[in-house]
Amino acid sequence: MTNPTDINRPFRILAIAGSIRAGSYNRLLLEAARDLAPTGVEIEIVDTAGLPFYDADLEAVGDPAPVGEFKERVRAADALLIATPEYNGCIPGLLGNALDWASRPYGRAPLSGKPVAILGATPSPRGGARAQAVLRQILAATRCAVVPEPELVVRSAHEQFDAVGMLRDELTRDRLRALLANLVDGVAGTDAADRPAA
Ligand SMILES: Cc1cc2nc3c(=O)[nH]c(=O)nc-3n(C[C@H](O)[C@H](O)[C@H](O)COP(=O)(O)O)c2cc1C
Repeated sequence: MTNPTDINRPFRILAIAGSIRAGSYNRLLLEAARDLAPTGVEIEIVDTAGLPFYDADLEAVGDPAPVGEFKERVRAADALLIATPEYNGCIPGLLGNALDWASRPYGRAPLSGKPVAILGATPSPRGGARAQAVLRQILAATRCAVVPEPELVVRSAHEQFDAVGMLRDELTRDRLRALLANLVDGVAGTDAADRPAA
């Protein structure tokens, strides 16, 4: 699969994890996505730990360097892939903060119109579905084009990865492949249903 808008360069996905924990299941999901990405699709995982808290006063005197760099990377990406844990029924502050910065300035935000696919993992039996619902709401407010399906909620995350961090379940791997394919197809304006079966 090549970049639908330019066959001479890869389709670039910027991946954001809502956790900076060593061994984060959500980071592992993004690493799995990188391994399962179709040919011609590059997934780069961005580190958002260095972003200061959003502050309109900081913004007014010019984005701090890490913010400017992060926003530029969001802007340059063909699409985003966001993996979120769930904290108290919501997305973590770390992720909310990154999205707040990328939603600015109003009317010219890097997030505006950006195609996005979301997924998430938690050790609980509910897998963080509430956080994903909140994330969809935020991305709608920031005018992103969120891939509607498949929903990828990884439950009991502590049982889903092997000793080297590989995603075990073949069905989950298939859903992740489908999510990435739908993200790329959404940008290309093609319908996944039109794609010949593999
Ligand atoms: C402050 C806090 C609140 C949490 N709230 C929830 C929750 O509401 N639902 C849930 O499924 N897990 C909850 N958890 C557990 C996280 O989902 C779990 O730590 C997860 O592994 C974090 O993602 P990571 O593995 O990518 O770091 C919470 C964890 C923390 C630290």
